[in-house]
Amino acid sequence: MSVPVEVIAHYAEGQEHARLTSGHGRLELWRTQDILLRNLPPAPARVLDVGGGPGIYAEWLAGLGYAVHVVDPVRLHVEQAASLAGVTAAVGDARALAERDATYDVVLALGPLYHLLERADRVRAWQEFGRVVVPGGLVAAAAISRYAALNDGLRKEVILDPSFRHVVEGNLTDGTHRNDACLPDRFTTAYFHHPDELAGEVADAGLLLRGVLGVECTAWLVATLPVMLDDPVRRGLLLDWLRRIEAEPTLLGVSSHLLVLASP
Ligand SMILES: C[S@@+](CC[C@H](N)C(=O)[O-])C[C@H]1O[C@@H](n2cnc3c(N)ncnc32)[C@H](O)[C@@H]1O
Repeated sequence: MSVPVEVIAHYAEGQEHARLTSGHGRLELWRTQDILLRNLPPAPARVLDVGGGPGIYAEWLAGLGYAVHVVDPVRLHVEQAASLAGVTAAVGDARALAERDATYDVVLALGPLYHLLERADRVRAWQEFGRVVVPGGLVAAAAISRYAALNDGLRKEVILDPSFRHVVEGNLTDGTHRNDACLPDRFTTAYFHHPDELAGEVADAGLLLRGVLGVECTAWLVATLPVMLDDPVRRGLLLDWLRRIEAEPTLLGVSSHLLVLASP
């Protein structure tokens, strides 16, 4: 069981921290936090952040009084997360967690699912999340929408570039995303879910689905989004509106990320 070398190499470049803290990426961060705050048990509670990257969510949760442990296959991420106050971290893989059964109140998995190309691996990861969380606890896992790269290409007006078509054809055909030419801004090896697939993976892992929510919903396609996010009043109004449409099934595929909530 190994993580593809190109995935490790992609994250070893150390770009992950900046992704969520600037420009459009802040919408993913603030919307994910908004959803989590409405669903997490109160602090102090034990959170296992699988695929926690450099620890942006871990640091935020530790600051709120949660006990957070990060697991990630990228050594740089583990070092970055372990340096944060109130956060511990170790190298590991979502499909074979070292943690004992029912030892966490919450499992966050904001990354691993979309780097597992095989359905059996994703179901295995869901089983592991369910195993380590207490009965009735929360598993919150992120997926990338099948249409995310296509919509991103429309937004950035690169959709007519032949190299773009080559990458996105795979997304639309079977959800696989590969960037064999290592083109900048085209991400790395991943699996992009159709929203309708998620319930089946959760059920096959023996977990109870609590909801599938759009994270950015339609708002990430707005060119002036960063300006809106800079202004706390307009940002607040935007977040209010997105709460209203986050669970609308006909809009899920338009969102870049989806957040799946489940319980053992
Ligand atoms: C896009 S980053 C997200 C990081 C962080 N969760 C966040 O949202 O800011 C995806 C993360 O998933 C991790 N990852 C990839 N494959 C994994 C696997 N099989 N098990 C656990 N984590 C994995 C990567 O190393 C990376 O840190």
